Amino acid sequence: MSTSANSQPSVALAEATASAPPSRHIRTFKPRRGRITVAQNNAIDRLWPRWGLEIPAEGEELDLARLFGRTAPLQLEIGCGMGDAVVAMASAKPDLDFLAVDVHTPGLGNVLRMAERAGLTNVRAASGDALDLLRRQIPSDALDAVHIYFPDPWPKARHHKRRIVRSEVIALIADRLRTGGLLHCATDWAEYAAEMLVVLSAEPWLRNRYPGCGYAPRPTHRPVTKFEARAVREGREVFDLSFTKI
Ligand SMILES: C[S@@+](CC[C@H](N)C(=O)[O-])C[C@H]1O[C@@H](n2cnc3c(N)ncnc32)[C@H](O)[C@@H]1O
Repeated sequence: MSTSANSQPSVALAEATASAPPSRHIRTFKPRRGRITVAQNNAIDRLWPRWGLEIPAEGEELDLARLFGRTAPLQLEIGCGMGDAVVAMASAKPDLDFLAVDVHTPGLGNVLRMAERAGLTNVRAASGDALDLLRRQIPSDALDAVHIYFPDPWPKARHHKRRIVRSEVIALIADRLRTGGLLHCATDWAEYAAEMLVVLSAEPWLRNRYPGCGYAPRPTHRPVTKFEARAVREGREVFDLSFTKI
């Protein structure tokens, strides 16, 4: 980590990287059964050996150059869902590499299917808990950007501890970002957005790119996914947050 001589890793980061077995970590996702389509299944069968990555419970740092076959700035999407955002971003920025992580197999099949259709070679799909990936396999200062779009809101107060945007996870992400790297979050859950703003603003290694009102304008690179479309249909506001690693 690019700490200056007089700074110490934060308590939050120490908690996030503690080597408890993965099963003891608080899960930020709900197990879901979603049906896999024939096309998604076919994409997994054909493309997973080349473009897929299982996140191991234990493991060493990823050889990113080997994973992508080149060295380019790496962007990570946590909880990519059906992959609309990562495929749009990767199409728009062929000079960057994109790693899409989720626990949802049909979504990962869809990522690979869409990436192939778009003729992309700069997208890889990782299956498993993004927090294990970040803790064990991504080195400090390795990421050019992290995107977290419409994370599960865990609305009940007793479940707030499951929210992915919480201080120890943000400290971990800040550590994995390069200086000048970007963390971008979006949610349609107003109360979660307010909490995100507090958590991100409190992370010493991050600076809000829009300190005035706190929230960022909607970025053009983010396509409207079904979560955003539903929010708009149901009259909810969408909040974007954009922070830079200092
Ligand atoms: C509400 S969905 C949003 C999907 C997508 N970002 C979008 O905007 O359409 C949240 C996604 O995050 C995934 N997720 C939640 N926690 C995760 C974790 N720790 N590791 C990997 N994926 C996670 C879920 O499986 C789910 O697909």
